[in-house]
Amino acid sequence: MKDKIVFQGKTKKGKSIVVRYPKKSDAEAIWAYINKLSKEQTFILFQGEEIAFKDKKEYLEKTLDKKKKKKAVQLLVFSNNKLVGISEISMKDKAIAHEGVFGISVLEEYRGEGIGKKLMEQVLKEAKKSLPQLKIITLGVFENNLPALKMYEKFSFKEFGKLPEGILHKGKYIDHIYMYKKIKG
Ligand SMILES: CC(C)(COP(=O)(O)OP(=O)(O)OC[C@H]1O[C@@H](n2cnc3c(N)ncnc32)[C@H](O)[C@@H]1OP(=O)(O)O)[C@@H](O)C(=O)NCCC(=O)NCCS
Repeated sequence: MKDKIVFQGKTKKGKSIVVRYPKKSDAEAIWAYINKLSKEQTFILFQGEEIAFKDKKEYLEKTLDKKKKKKAVQLLVFSNNKLVGISEISMKDKAIAHEGVFGISVLEEYRGEGIGKKLMEQVLKEAKKSLPQLKIITLGVFENNLPALKMYEKFSFKEFGKLPEGILHKGKYIDHIYMYKKIKG
């Protein structure tokens, strides 16, 4: 399969980055990436557990299939051929089929140099182009995740509620904040 590149450029610190759609052969890189993030116990749902290769491969295949059906967009960021970021918007179904759920992460050593913002911009752009049912984007964020909260505000996401003590993070219950953004059309 041919790479579909959506952006090429440099980070604030001068690192080269390529943002592109995933392909089947990315399974191993995605698996290693997500396990690194899980181990870090950062602000994602995986909190230290080891994810099996088979599960990650199946998840990627499902995402590729959803992409074909115009139900999901996922983009990967590479820096010198190393996977350093992933973001996606995945559509719900039935009566909430116009809602897309957003997720994003950047590898620890690559944060704070503009990759998250660029990746989010590209995913939103691609989603508007290729997800015909999309009208609302929602996301969930840990209340103690200041960088993400700041970034989402910059993209005009608004808080619409929170689940008190909805997340167990590093042994402490914290609030799960929900945000949304309306898409025109
Ligand atoms: C959230 C995340 C994706 C941001 O990616 P990033 O590449 O570090 O972000 P950028 O460098 O592009 O910064 C984007 C914006 O985020 C905010 N931000 C980033 N780092 C910040 C920090 N340390 N403190 C406060 N705000 C910060 C700023 O508003 C920034 O915009 P600016 O550069 O115009 O000031 C990244 O921190 C990450 O992967 N964290 C762990 C996983 C995670 O939290 N995922 C989101 C789950 S909801």
